[in-house]
Amino acid sequence: MKTKLHEIVMSMDFRGIRYDFNTVENQYMLKFFDPLYVKRAINIVELLGLHKKKKMRIFDIGSGFAYFPYLCRELGHDVVISDTQEPLYDAVTKYLGFEKISLTVRAFEKMNMPGRFDCVTALKAAFHQKDDGDWGSVEWDFFYSDLREHLNPRAIVYITGSNSMDPYHRSGDKQHLFNGGHWKIK
Ligand SMILES: C[S@@+](CC[C@H](N)C(=O)[O-])C[C@H]1O[C@@H](n2cnc3c(N)ncnc32)[C@H](O)[C@@H]1O
Repeated sequence: MKTKLHEIVMSMDFRGIRYDFNTVENQYMLKFFDPLYVKRAINIVELLGLHKKKKMRIFDIGSGFAYFPYLCRELGHDVVISDTQEPLYDAVTKYLGFEKISLTVRAFEKMNMPGRFDCVTALKAAFHQKDDGDWGSVEWDFFYSDLREHLNPRAIVYITGSNSMDPYHRSGDKQHLFNGGHWKIK
């Protein structure tokens, strides 16, 4: 299956993208064209075993360049992506053929997720990081109880923090790896 992932990656081609890169206000975002980020997406697909699973309904929060959802879709999963509005991300995801849901995750606000999912991811989306400090347990509890309403049985929830690729990244006192309908507390 690694071969299949490899094939998918090798077929990615951004040369046809229509975008005036000089208009990118935040030039740091151009770093996402680095294949390093594709490699990271591959790692997460493999970590979650999505290259071995039957068709799943997947929702990705804060998709950015959407490499991870792209790989999932090419593997045959049904994928819905979401993000805040950002012209460069919009151009890239449109180019990759995604229709994107506009979603900015905020503390104590329900998310506009369309239906239920087998897998929900947020990869370095950092919605929990605020100027006055990270979310605590109360914010995460609201988030997960809202999220739970959008999960099918045995859903995988995988959320990584901004500075960590560690699936057991913590904020507050919860681990943000939720699998099979149960919290996993370290
Ligand atoms: C560092 S990028 C990561 C992009 C992608 N998930 C990845 O792993 O390559 C952070 C992403 O989170 C999104 N984001 C930031 N704040 C957000 C919020 N409050 N709700 C949803 N997405 C948010 C940004 O628009 C951006 O797409």
